[in-house]
Amino acid sequence: MCEHADAGATLVPVSTAADLSQSAFLKAARGEPVPHTPVWFMRQAGRSLPEYLALREGVGMLESCMDPELVVEITLQPVRRYGVDAAIFFSDIVLPLKAVGVDLDIKPGIGPVVAQPVRTLADVEAIPDLTPEHVPFITEAVRGLVGQLGNTPLIGFAGAPFTVASYLVEGGPSKEHARTKAMMFGAPDVWDALMRKIAGIAAAYLEVQVAAGASAVQLFDSWAGALTPTDYQQHVMPHSAAVLERAGALGVPRIHFGVGTTNLLSLMGEAGADVVGVDWRTPLERAIPMVGDRAVQGNLDPTLVFAPTEVMTARAAEVIEAGRAARGHIFNLGHGVIPSTDPDQLKRLTEFVQGYALG
Ligand code: CP3
Repeated sequence: MCEHADAGATLVPVSTAADLSQSAFLKAARGEPVPHTPVWFMRQAGRSLPEYLALREGVGMLESCMDPELVVEITLQPVRRYGVDAAIFFSDIVLPLKAVGVDLDIKPGIGPVVAQPVRTLADVEAIPDLTPEHVPFITEAVRGLVGQLGNTPLIGFAGAPFTVASYLVEGGPSKEHARTKAMMFGAPDVWDALMRKIAGIAAAYLEVQVAAGASAVQLFDSWAGALTPTDYQQHVMPHSAAVLERAGALGVPRIHFGVGTTNLLSLMGEAGADVVGVDWRTPLERAIPMVGDRAVQGNLDPTLVFAPTEVMTARAAEVIEAGRAARGHIFNLGHGVIPSTDPDQLKRLTEFVQGYALG
């Protein structure tokens, strides 16, 4: 039994439990002055934590995502351990597809695998749109979380249309995204329908999370870096923009992140982000002028946590200093926490960033 097994039963109304007005994370996302550079880590909830592995023993990934008690506990674990400035909701980008009935699984060490890959217009049309009734366990988990997180904001998230489409079309993880791009180039009507379908599901999924109490959202377009700027702009950006526009109506900051996106950063900002996530390959000095008058998030190389602590913190200081030129800066790794990361090192990194004098 997990410690927070009664999360659902002990709901505390958000208004009395939380004071998010002083959140450094939300201030940075809005471009307001901050007391310290806020920090959280993509994939902070998960395999690098022994307490996570213990909880997940014998429980499938998707099964755990649909269990509000587990979601609450796993989301809280890194917040307790590191004292990060934001929590990220424990779920996965393919969870909403599973919830509407797509036959898929998340295989350990592999990632999402789809039983019948999407190839035709009929395949797209067979995917239902998402309504809150598909995901009552998400609403329950988010409500339970905001009751327990107190002054720490919760980031909700969704996968962006291109990245989710890649799993649906390829049937699993892919390096080249060849079938996905073949559909994009060769069957524009199917592509357009698929992107609209996923965009609608992503937006509805974010709406559910924010309605239940999430205070920011991140749209993960992890694999968008596989596209040329022109192809991104023509075939992908309008659909991500549609998700971000609907999220914008919710009044919470929107973070837009992808990997290998040096050539896409300005477009990803223009798509409607308040904060552009930058991977570690693009120095913030270069990224900041590209994203315009927006905040940035990032971007320490995730492998630097394996370096000696003083090397890691020296590089973190460079990231913080570079971030000062932005409208706002949220410190993060340039991609997710690597599973073999030593949690103590992430704790030291968190303390270093939060204790760094901005002067
Ligand atoms: O802490 C957090 O960041 C919250 C949880 C989270 C997960 N997936 C949990 C997870 C988030 C935000 C995601 C998003 C996600 N899922 C993305 C975008 C982020 C990114 O890293 O670029 C992508 C591309 C996926 C698809 C996916 N799911 C992959 C590639 C994998 C890894 C496969 C593996 O095991 O190496 C998953 C599985 C997954 N999602 C795990 C976790 C904790 C591992 C599964 C397990 O613990 O059994």
